Amino acid sequence: MWELSENKSTPIYQQIMEQIITYIQDGTLQPGDRLPAERKLADYYQVNRSTVVHALDELVSLGWVLRRQGSGTVVNEGNWGRSTIPRVDWRSLFTQESHPKEPFLEKLQQLLNDPEAVDLYSGELPLNLIPDFRFPSYTWEELLLEERKQSPLGYRPLQQVICQRIKADQKIEVSSDQVLITSGAQQAMFLLLQVMLQSGDSVAIEDPSFLYSLPIFATAGIKLYGVEMDKEGMRIDKLEQLILTKKIKLIILNPTFQNPTGSTMSKKRRNELIELSRKYQLPIVEDEVFSEMNFDEIPPSLKELASHQVIHLGSLSKIFGSSIKIGWIVADRDLIQRLSEAKQMMDFSISVFPQVIAHTALTDPRFEQNQKDLVVELEQRAAAFIEAAQVVAEDWDFSAIDGGIYVYFTWRHQKLTRTDWEIFLREKLLIAPAFLFSNDTMAMRVNYTRLTEGTREQFFLKLQTISKELRRN
Ligand SMILES: Cc1ncc(COP(=O)(O)O)c(C=O)c1O
Repeated sequence: MWELSENKSTPIYQQIMEQIITYIQDGTLQPGDRLPAERKLADYYQVNRSTVVHALDELVSLGWVLRRQGSGTVVNEGNWGRSTIPRVDWRSLFTQESHPKEPFLEKLQQLLNDPEAVDLYSGELPLNLIPDFRFPSYTWEELLLEERKQSPLGYRPLQQVICQRIKADQKIEVSSDQVLITSGAQQAMFLLLQVMLQSGDSVAIEDPSFLYSLPIFATAGIKLYGVEMDKEGMRIDKLEQLILTKKIKLIILNPTFQNPTGSTMSKKRRNELIELSRKYQLPIVEDEVFSEMNFDEIPPSLKELASHQVIHLGSLSKIFGSSIKIGWIVADRDLIQRLSEAKQMMDFSISVFPQVIAHTALTDPRFEQNQKDLVVELEQRAAAFIEAAQVVAEDWDFSAIDGGIYVYFTWRHQKLTRTDWEIFLREKLLIAPAFLFSNDTMAMRVNYTRLTEGTREQFFLKLQTISKELRRN
Protein backbone atom coordinates (compact mmCIF):
# COMPACT_ATOMS: atom_id res chain seq x y z
CA MET A 1 0.00 0.00 0.00
CA TRP A 2 2.78 2.47 0.85
CA GLU A 3 4.84 2.41 -2.28
CA LEU A 4 5.09 4.63 -5.32
CA SER A 5 4.95 3.67 -8.96
CA GLU A 6 8.24 4.26 -10.69
CA ASN A 7 9.19 6.72 -13.43
CA LYS A 8 6.94 9.57 -12.46
CA SER A 9 8.36 12.97 -13.17
CA THR A 10 6.53 14.78 -10.33
CA PRO A 11 8.53 15.35 -7.12
CA ILE A 12 8.37 12.45 -4.61
CA TYR A 13 6.64 14.45 -1.87
CA GLN A 14 3.86 15.24 -4.33
CA GLN A 15 3.51 11.62 -5.37
CA ILE A 16 3.13 10.74 -1.69
CA MET A 17 0.52 13.46 -1.27
CA GLU A 18 -1.38 12.34 -4.34
CA GLN A 19 -1.36 8.73 -3.14
CA ILE A 20 -2.71 9.62 0.30
CA ILE A 21 -5.40 11.86 -1.22
CA THR A 22 -6.41 9.01 -3.56
CA TYR A 23 -6.63 6.60 -0.59
CA ILE A 24 -8.88 9.07 1.23
CA GLN A 25 -11.04 9.64 -1.83
CA ASP A 26 -11.52 5.96 -2.63
CA GLY A 27 -12.18 5.05 1.00
CA THR A 28 -9.01 3.02 1.61
CA LEU A 29 -8.35 5.54 4.36
CA GLN A 30 -11.41 6.45 6.39
CA PRO A 31 -12.06 9.69 8.32
CA GLY A 32 -10.28 9.42 11.66
CA ASP A 33 -7.85 6.70 10.46
CA ARG A 34 -4.32 7.14 11.72
CA LEU A 35 -1.46 7.23 9.23
CA PRO A 36 1.74 5.29 10.01
CA ALA A 37 4.37 7.27 11.91
CA GLU A 38 6.62 9.51 9.82
CA ARG A 39 9.66 7.27 10.29
CA LYS A 40 7.65 4.21 9.25
CA LEU A 41 6.30 5.98 6.17
CA ALA A 42 9.83 7.01 5.24
CA ASP A 43 10.89 3.34 5.49
CA TYR A 44 7.92 2.12 3.45
CA TYR A 45 8.46 4.71 0.70
CA GLN A 46 12.25 4.39 0.97
CA VAL A 47 12.76 8.12 1.13
CA ASN A 48 14.18 10.59 3.62
CA ARG A 49 12.01 11.38 6.58
CA SER A 50 12.08 15.06 5.55
CA THR A 51 10.31 14.16 2.27
CA VAL A 52 7.50 12.50 4.22
CA VAL A 53 7.31 15.46 6.60
CA HIS A 54 7.07 17.81 3.61
CA ALA A 55 4.19 15.78 2.11
CA LEU A 56 2.34 15.58 5.43
CA ASP A 57 2.82 19.31 6.07
CA GLU A 58 1.25 20.06 2.71
CA LEU A 59 -1.64 17.66 3.39
CA VAL A 60 -2.21 19.36 6.75
CA SER A 61 -2.23 22.78 5.12
CA LEU A 62 -4.69 21.53 2.50
CA GLY A 63 -6.91 20.13 5.25
CA TRP A 64 -6.77 16.44 4.28
CA VAL A 65 -5.09 15.28 7.49
CA LEU A 66 -4.68 16.65 11.01
CA ARG A 67 -1.79 16.35 13.41
CA ARG A 68 -3.02 15.38 16.86
CA GLN A 69 -0.76 15.57 19.86
CA GLY A 70 -0.15 12.07 21.12
CA SER A 71 -2.00 10.32 18.31
CA GLY A 72 0.07 11.30 15.26
CA THR A 73 -1.43 12.13 11.89
CA VAL A 74 -5.09 11.28 11.26
CA VAL A 75 -7.42 11.67 8.31
CA ASN A 76 -9.59 14.79 8.71
CA GLU A 77 -13.13 13.84 9.63
CA GLY A 78 -14.86 16.65 7.80
CA ASN A 79 -14.49 18.70 4.67
CA TRP A 80 -13.84 22.09 6.28
CA GLY A 81 -10.67 23.66 5.10
CA ARG A 82 -9.98 20.85 2.69
CA SER A 83 -8.54 21.78 -0.63
CA THR A 84 -6.79 19.92 -3.32
CA ILE A 85 -4.42 20.64 -6.14
CA PRO A 86 -4.90 22.72 -8.29
CA ARG A 87 -5.40 25.44 -5.75
CA VAL A 88 -5.20 29.18 -5.35
CA ASP A 89 -3.79 30.87 -2.34
CA TRP A 90 -6.81 33.11 -1.84
CA ARG A 91 -5.34 34.61 1.30
CA SER A 92 -2.43 36.08 -0.58
CA LEU A 93 -4.85 37.47 -3.17
CA PHE A 94 -6.54 39.48 -0.46
CA THR A 95 -3.56 40.70 1.54
CA GLN A 96 -2.78 44.32 0.82
CA GLU A 97 0.96 43.83 1.31
CA SER A 98 1.38 41.27 -1.45
CA HIS A 99 -0.72 43.21 -3.98
CA PRO A 100 -0.56 46.87 -3.11
CA LYS A 101 -3.00 48.89 -5.18
CA GLU A 102 -1.37 50.98 -7.85
CA PRO A 103 -2.09 54.59 -6.75
CA PHE A 104 -2.06 55.87 -10.35
CA LEU A 105 -4.71 53.34 -11.33
CA GLU A 106 -6.88 54.14 -8.37
CA LYS A 107 -6.96 57.80 -9.37
CA LEU A 108 -7.47 56.94 -13.02
CA GLN A 109 -10.40 54.67 -12.26
CA GLN A 110 -12.14 57.49 -10.44
CA LEU A 111 -11.88 59.59 -13.59
CA LEU A 112 -13.28 56.95 -15.95
CA ASN A 113 -16.85 58.20 -15.53
CA ASP A 114 -15.93 61.88 -15.69
CA PRO A 115 -17.59 63.30 -18.84
CA GLU A 116 -14.61 65.66 -19.36
CA ALA A 117 -12.08 62.83 -19.38
CA VAL A 118 -10.74 61.39 -22.64
CA ASP A 119 -10.50 57.64 -22.06
CA LEU A 120 -7.76 56.06 -24.14
CA TYR A 121 -6.86 53.78 -21.26
CA SER A 122 -9.68 51.21 -21.47
CA GLY A 123 -8.77 48.13 -23.48
CA GLU A 124 -11.95 47.91 -25.49
CA LEU A 125 -13.42 49.24 -28.67
CA PRO A 126 -15.82 52.14 -28.16
CA LEU A 127 -19.44 50.97 -27.97
CA ASN A 128 -20.39 52.34 -31.39
CA LEU A 129 -17.72 50.21 -33.11
CA ILE A 130 -18.77 46.94 -31.53
CA PRO A 131 -20.75 45.06 -34.21
CA ASP A 132 -24.46 45.01 -33.51
CA PHE A 133 -26.56 41.85 -33.75
CA ARG A 134 -30.16 40.99 -33.34
CA PHE A 135 -30.66 38.00 -31.11
CA PRO A 136 -33.38 35.46 -31.86
CA SER A 137 -35.95 35.28 -29.09
CA TYR A 138 -35.71 32.04 -27.15
CA THR A 139 -38.41 30.62 -24.96
CA TRP A 140 -37.31 29.34 -21.58
CA GLU A 141 -37.89 25.79 -22.77
CA GLU A 142 -35.76 26.33 -25.87
CA LEU A 143 -32.93 27.64 -23.74
CA LEU A 144 -33.16 24.62 -21.49
CA LEU A 145 -32.88 22.47 -24.60
CA GLU A 146 -29.74 24.36 -25.58
CA GLU A 147 -28.37 23.61 -22.11
CA ARG A 148 -28.38 19.93 -23.09
CA LYS A 149 -25.79 20.73 -25.73
CA GLN A 150 -23.30 21.65 -23.01
CA SER A 151 -20.39 19.26 -22.53
CA PRO A 152 -17.68 19.63 -19.86
CA LEU A 153 -15.68 21.47 -22.53
CA GLY A 154 -18.45 23.95 -23.35
CA TYR A 155 -21.51 24.53 -25.54
CA ARG A 156 -20.90 22.15 -28.44
CA PRO A 157 -22.23 24.35 -31.27
CA LEU A 158 -19.88 27.14 -30.12
CA GLN A 159 -16.92 24.76 -29.94
CA GLN A 160 -17.67 23.69 -33.51
CA VAL A 161 -17.82 27.25 -34.80
CA ILE A 162 -14.51 28.00 -33.11
CA CYS A 163 -12.95 24.94 -34.76
CA GLN A 164 -14.20 26.16 -38.15
CA ARG A 165 -12.83 29.64 -37.59
CA ILE A 166 -9.45 28.28 -36.53
CA LYS A 167 -9.35 26.17 -39.66
CA ALA A 168 -10.23 29.14 -41.86
CA ASP A 169 -7.87 31.64 -40.19
CA GLN A 170 -4.94 29.48 -39.20
CA LYS A 171 -5.22 26.54 -41.54
CA ILE A 172 -5.09 24.03 -38.69
CA GLU A 173 -7.50 21.19 -38.17
CA VAL A 174 -8.68 20.98 -34.59
CA SER A 175 -11.51 18.90 -33.27
CA SER A 176 -13.97 19.85 -30.52
CA ASP A 177 -12.12 17.82 -27.90
CA GLN A 178 -9.13 20.12 -28.39
CA VAL A 179 -11.13 23.25 -27.55
CA LEU A 180 -12.14 24.31 -24.06
CA ILE A 181 -14.52 27.26 -23.71
CA THR A 182 -13.60 29.58 -20.85
CA SER A 183 -14.94 32.73 -19.34
CA GLY A 184 -12.52 34.93 -21.30
CA ALA A 185 -8.81 34.59 -22.06
CA GLN A 186 -7.86 35.61 -18.55
CA GLN A 187 -9.65 32.65 -17.04
CA ALA A 188 -7.94 30.47 -19.63
CA MET A 189 -4.58 31.79 -18.42
CA PHE A 190 -5.54 31.20 -14.80
CA LEU A 191 -6.47 27.57 -15.51
CA LEU A 192 -3.21 26.97 -17.34
CA LEU A 193 -1.21 28.29 -14.39
CA GLN A 194 -3.10 26.06 -12.00
CA VAL A 195 -2.66 22.93 -14.06
CA MET A 196 0.78 23.34 -15.64
CA LEU A 197 2.77 25.08 -12.93
CA GLN A 198 3.56 24.86 -9.27
CA SER A 199 4.22 27.51 -6.74
CA GLY A 200 7.82 28.68 -7.17
CA ASP A 201 7.94 28.06 -10.95
CA SER A 202 9.11 30.76 -13.37
CA VAL A 203 7.46 32.04 -16.53
CA ALA A 204 8.93 34.21 -19.30
CA ILE A 205 6.77 36.97 -20.78
CA GLU A 206 7.43 39.97 -23.00
CA ASP A 207 8.77 43.15 -21.41
CA PRO A 208 6.57 45.18 -21.40
CA SER A 209 3.46 43.00 -21.11
CA PHE A 210 -0.09 43.45 -19.83
CA LEU A 211 0.45 40.21 -17.84
CA TYR A 212 2.89 42.09 -15.60
CA SER A 213 0.02 43.74 -13.76
CA LEU A 214 -2.22 40.69 -13.33
CA PRO A 215 -2.31 39.40 -9.73
CA ILE A 216 -3.00 35.79 -10.80
CA PHE A 217 0.72 34.99 -11.13
CA ALA A 218 1.80 36.21 -7.71
CA THR A 219 -1.25 34.58 -6.17
CA ALA A 220 -0.27 31.21 -7.59
CA GLY A 221 3.33 31.79 -6.44
CA ILE A 222 4.57 32.06 -10.04
CA LYS A 223 7.58 34.28 -10.75
CA LEU A 224 7.39 36.40 -13.88
CA TYR A 225 10.48 37.35 -15.90
CA GLY A 226 10.34 39.89 -18.70
CA VAL A 227 12.20 39.39 -21.97
CA GLU A 228 13.38 42.50 -23.79
CA MET A 229 11.79 43.11 -27.17
CA ASP A 230 13.08 44.69 -30.36
CA LYS A 231 11.28 45.55 -33.59
CA GLU A 232 10.78 41.85 -34.41
CA GLY A 233 9.40 40.87 -31.00
CA MET A 234 10.78 38.99 -27.99
CA ARG A 235 14.60 38.72 -28.22
CA ILE A 236 15.61 35.09 -28.50
CA ASP A 237 19.14 35.56 -27.07
CA LYS A 238 17.67 37.21 -23.95
CA LEU A 239 15.06 34.49 -23.65
CA GLU A 240 17.70 31.77 -23.82
CA GLN A 241 19.71 33.48 -21.08
CA LEU A 242 16.61 33.51 -18.88
CA ILE A 243 15.81 29.87 -19.61
CA LEU A 244 19.30 28.94 -18.47
CA THR A 245 19.48 31.15 -15.38
CA LYS A 246 15.90 31.13 -14.07
CA LYS A 247 14.72 27.65 -15.00
CA ILE A 248 11.78 28.93 -17.02
CA LYS A 249 8.88 26.45 -17.23
CA LEU A 250 6.59 28.22 -19.66
CA ILE A 251 6.72 31.05 -22.21
CA ILE A 252 3.61 33.20 -22.52
CA LEU A 253 3.32 35.82 -25.20
CA ASN A 254 0.92 37.94 -27.18
CA PRO A 255 2.64 37.89 -30.57
CA THR A 256 0.14 39.82 -32.67
CA PHE A 257 -0.68 43.51 -31.97
CA GLN A 258 0.77 43.05 -28.52
CA ASN A 259 -0.74 44.63 -25.43
CA PRO A 260 0.70 47.24 -24.71
CA THR A 261 3.10 47.96 -27.59
CA GLY A 262 0.79 47.12 -30.50
CA SER A 263 3.74 45.39 -32.20
CA THR A 264 3.70 42.07 -34.06
CA MET A 265 6.38 39.39 -33.91
CA SER A 266 7.98 38.73 -37.31
CA LYS A 267 7.69 35.33 -38.96
CA LYS A 268 11.45 34.80 -38.69
CA ARG A 269 11.35 35.49 -34.96
CA ARG A 270 8.37 33.15 -34.54
CA ASN A 271 10.37 30.36 -36.15
CA GLU A 272 13.37 31.07 -33.95
CA LEU A 273 11.17 31.02 -30.87
CA ILE A 274 9.72 27.65 -31.82
CA GLU A 275 13.20 26.28 -32.43
CA LEU A 276 14.34 27.45 -28.99
CA SER A 277 11.28 26.07 -27.27
CA ARG A 278 11.94 22.71 -28.94
CA LYS A 279 15.56 22.76 -27.84
CA TYR A 280 14.55 23.22 -24.19
CA GLN A 281 11.25 21.34 -24.43
CA LEU A 282 9.28 24.33 -23.21
CA PRO A 283 5.62 24.84 -24.01
CA ILE A 284 4.49 28.20 -25.39
CA VAL A 285 1.19 29.89 -24.64
CA GLU A 286 0.17 32.28 -27.41
CA ASP A 287 -2.48 34.77 -26.49
CA GLU A 288 -4.06 35.85 -29.76
CA VAL A 289 -6.95 38.08 -28.81
CA PHE A 290 -6.27 40.79 -31.43
CA SER A 291 -5.30 38.75 -34.48
CA GLU A 292 -8.61 39.33 -36.26
CA MET A 293 -8.10 43.09 -36.23
CA ASN A 294 -5.42 43.07 -38.94
CA PHE A 295 -5.21 45.63 -41.74
CA ASP A 296 -2.81 43.53 -43.82
CA GLU A 297 -1.69 39.94 -43.85
CA ILE A 298 -0.15 38.83 -40.55
CA PRO A 299 2.49 36.15 -39.92
CA PRO A 300 1.23 32.60 -39.23
CA SER A 301 0.21 31.92 -35.64
CA LEU A 302 2.69 30.03 -33.46
CA LYS A 303 0.10 27.26 -33.22
CA GLU A 304 0.15 26.96 -36.99
CA LEU A 305 3.94 26.73 -36.97
CA ALA A 306 4.21 24.13 -34.19
CA SER A 307 0.86 22.66 -33.28
CA HIS A 308 1.93 20.40 -30.38
CA GLN A 309 4.34 22.87 -28.84
CA VAL A 310 1.86 25.70 -28.59
CA ILE A 311 -1.26 26.35 -26.52
CA HIS A 312 -3.45 28.89 -28.22
CA LEU A 313 -5.79 31.32 -26.43
CA GLY A 314 -8.54 33.31 -28.09
CA SER A 315 -11.32 35.56 -26.88
CA LEU A 316 -14.34 37.46 -28.13
CA SER A 317 -13.81 40.29 -25.63
CA LYS A 318 -11.98 42.49 -28.07
CA ILE A 319 -14.55 42.38 -30.85
CA PHE A 320 -17.78 42.06 -28.86
CA GLY A 321 -16.79 43.89 -25.68
CA SER A 322 -15.67 42.33 -22.43
CA SER A 323 -19.18 41.87 -21.03
CA ILE A 324 -19.59 38.78 -23.19
CA LYS A 325 -16.56 37.12 -21.49
CA ILE A 326 -16.11 34.17 -23.80
CA GLY A 327 -12.67 32.82 -24.53
CA TRP A 328 -11.12 29.46 -25.45
CA ILE A 329 -8.03 27.33 -25.16
CA VAL A 330 -6.85 25.19 -28.06
CA ALA A 331 -4.39 22.49 -27.03
CA ASP A 332 -3.72 18.77 -27.27
CA ARG A 333 -6.52 16.52 -25.99
CA ASP A 334 -4.79 15.36 -22.81
CA LEU A 335 -4.13 18.86 -21.63
CA ILE A 336 -7.66 20.01 -22.52
CA GLN A 337 -8.99 17.10 -20.49
CA ARG A 338 -6.92 18.08 -17.46
CA LEU A 339 -7.86 21.73 -17.80
CA SER A 340 -11.50 20.78 -18.02
CA GLU A 341 -11.22 18.69 -14.85
CA ALA A 342 -9.54 21.58 -13.05
CA LYS A 343 -12.26 23.91 -14.30
CA GLN A 344 -14.96 21.63 -12.94
CA MET A 345 -13.14 21.27 -9.64
CA MET A 346 -13.11 25.03 -9.28
CA ASP A 347 -16.74 25.21 -10.40
CA PHE A 348 -15.89 27.55 -13.23
CA SER A 349 -18.75 26.25 -15.35
CA ILE A 350 -20.03 28.80 -17.82
CA SER A 351 -23.70 29.45 -18.20
CA VAL A 352 -25.14 28.59 -21.59
CA PHE A 353 -26.42 32.20 -22.10
CA PRO A 354 -23.23 33.98 -23.17
CA GLN A 355 -22.25 30.93 -25.20
CA VAL A 356 -25.54 30.96 -27.12
CA ILE A 357 -25.09 34.70 -27.70
CA ALA A 358 -21.52 34.19 -28.91
CA HIS A 359 -22.65 31.38 -31.21
CA THR A 360 -25.47 33.51 -32.62
CA ALA A 361 -23.11 36.40 -33.28
CA LEU A 362 -20.45 34.25 -34.92
CA THR A 363 -22.93 32.47 -37.19
CA ASP A 364 -24.90 35.59 -38.10
CA PRO A 365 -24.79 35.92 -41.92
CA ARG A 366 -23.66 39.55 -41.45
CA PHE A 367 -20.79 38.67 -39.17
CA GLU A 368 -18.08 38.48 -41.84
CA GLN A 369 -19.18 41.77 -43.41
CA ASN A 370 -19.42 43.46 -39.97
CA GLN A 371 -15.93 42.25 -39.24
CA LYS A 372 -14.62 43.64 -42.54
CA ASP A 373 -16.37 46.98 -41.93
CA LEU A 374 -14.87 47.15 -38.47
CA VAL A 375 -11.35 46.58 -39.79
CA VAL A 376 -11.84 49.25 -42.48
CA GLU A 377 -13.02 51.72 -39.83
CA LEU A 378 -10.07 50.87 -37.57
CA GLU A 379 -7.63 51.31 -40.43
CA GLN A 380 -9.06 54.76 -41.18
CA ARG A 381 -8.89 55.77 -37.52
CA ALA A 382 -5.34 54.49 -37.28
CA ALA A 383 -4.20 56.43 -40.37
CA ALA A 384 -5.87 59.65 -39.17
CA PHE A 385 -4.39 59.19 -35.72
CA ILE A 386 -0.83 58.71 -36.98
CA GLU A 387 -1.16 61.71 -39.29
CA ALA A 388 -2.42 63.90 -36.43
CA ALA A 389 0.30 62.52 -34.12
CA GLN A 390 3.01 64.27 -36.20
CA VAL A 391 2.44 67.39 -34.07
CA VAL A 392 4.01 65.60 -31.10
CA ALA A 393 6.65 63.67 -33.05
CA GLU A 394 9.48 65.80 -31.64
CA ASP A 395 8.57 64.71 -28.14
CA TRP A 396 7.25 61.20 -28.66
CA ASP A 397 8.41 58.24 -30.72
CA PHE A 398 5.72 55.94 -32.14
CA SER A 399 5.34 53.36 -34.89
CA ALA A 400 2.77 52.88 -37.64
CA ILE A 401 -0.36 50.96 -36.64
CA ASP A 402 -0.94 47.70 -38.57
CA GLY A 403 -3.93 46.45 -36.58
CA GLY A 404 -5.23 45.86 -33.08
CA ILE A 405 -6.23 48.68 -30.79
CA TYR A 406 -3.01 50.01 -29.25
CA VAL A 407 -0.20 52.34 -30.15
CA TYR A 408 2.82 52.92 -27.90
CA PHE A 409 4.34 56.36 -27.39
CA THR A 410 7.89 56.65 -26.02
CA TRP A 411 9.11 59.95 -24.54
CA ARG A 412 12.19 61.18 -26.40
CA HIS A 413 13.70 63.40 -23.72
CA GLN A 414 14.83 63.26 -20.09
CA LYS A 415 13.94 60.42 -17.75
CA LEU A 416 10.34 60.55 -16.58
CA THR A 417 9.32 59.56 -13.08
CA ARG A 418 6.03 58.14 -11.91
CA THR A 419 5.01 61.54 -10.57
CA ASP A 420 5.44 63.10 -14.00
CA TRP A 421 2.59 60.92 -15.22
CA GLU A 422 0.22 62.53 -12.71
CA ILE A 423 0.02 65.47 -15.14
CA PHE A 424 -2.06 63.27 -17.45
CA LEU A 425 -4.56 62.68 -14.66
CA ARG A 426 -4.74 66.39 -13.91
CA GLU A 427 -5.47 67.05 -17.58
CA LYS A 428 -7.99 64.19 -17.57
CA LEU A 429 -6.22 62.49 -20.42
CA LEU A 430 -6.46 58.82 -19.53
CA ILE A 431 -3.67 56.66 -20.92
CA ALA A 432 -1.76 53.65 -19.55
CA PRO A 433 1.82 54.52 -18.53
CA ALA A 434 4.52 51.91 -19.13
CA PHE A 435 5.02 51.28 -15.41
CA LEU A 436 1.77 49.31 -15.44
CA PHE A 437 3.44 46.80 -17.78
CA SER A 438 7.09 46.88 -16.81
CA ASN A 439 9.71 48.69 -14.73
CA ASP A 440 9.87 51.27 -17.49
CA THR A 441 8.53 54.81 -16.93
CA MET A 442 9.23 56.34 -20.35
CA ALA A 443 6.28 55.25 -22.48
CA MET A 444 2.48 55.02 -22.62
CA ARG A 445 -0.14 52.84 -24.23
CA VAL A 446 -2.93 54.59 -26.10
CA ASN A 447 -6.12 52.96 -27.34
CA TYR A 448 -6.43 54.98 -30.55
CA THR A 449 -9.75 53.35 -31.57
CA ARG A 450 -11.64 55.41 -29.02
CA LEU A 451 -10.90 58.72 -30.76
CA THR A 452 -13.29 60.19 -33.29
CA GLU A 453 -12.55 63.07 -35.62
CA GLY A 454 -13.78 65.52 -32.97
CA THR A 455 -11.96 64.11 -29.96
CA ARG A 456 -8.71 63.44 -31.83
CA GLU A 457 -7.91 67.13 -32.09
CA GLN A 458 -8.73 67.61 -28.41
CA PHE A 459 -6.42 64.71 -27.51
CA PHE A 460 -3.41 66.08 -29.40
CA LEU A 461 -3.94 69.60 -28.07
CA LYS A 462 -3.88 68.24 -24.54
CA LEU A 463 -0.89 66.05 -25.30
CA GLN A 464 1.01 69.06 -26.64
CA THR A 465 0.27 71.03 -23.45
CA ILE A 466 1.34 68.09 -21.29
CA SER A 467 4.52 67.54 -23.34
CA LYS A 468 5.51 71.20 -22.82
CA GLU A 469 5.08 70.77 -19.09
CA LEU A 470 7.01 67.49 -19.07
CA ARG A 471 9.93 69.14 -20.88
CA ARG A 472 10.02 71.86 -18.26
CA ASN A 473 10.14 69.36 -15.36
C1 LIG B 1 -3.50 40.32 -24.77
C2 LIG B 1 -4.71 40.10 -23.92
N1 LIG B 1 -5.04 38.84 -23.56
C3 LIG B 1 -6.11 38.59 -22.81
C4 LIG B 1 -6.92 39.60 -22.34
C5 LIG B 1 -8.10 39.24 -21.49
O1 LIG B 1 -9.13 38.82 -22.29
P1 LIG B 1 -10.56 38.41 -21.70
O2 LIG B 1 -11.36 39.67 -21.56
O3 LIG B 1 -11.10 37.49 -22.72
O4 LIG B 1 -10.33 37.75 -20.38
C6 LIG B 1 -6.63 40.92 -22.67
C7 LIG B 1 -7.46 41.98 -22.16
O5 LIG B 1 -7.06 43.10 -22.03
C8 LIG B 1 -5.50 41.17 -23.48
O6 LIG B 1 -5.16 42.41 -23.83
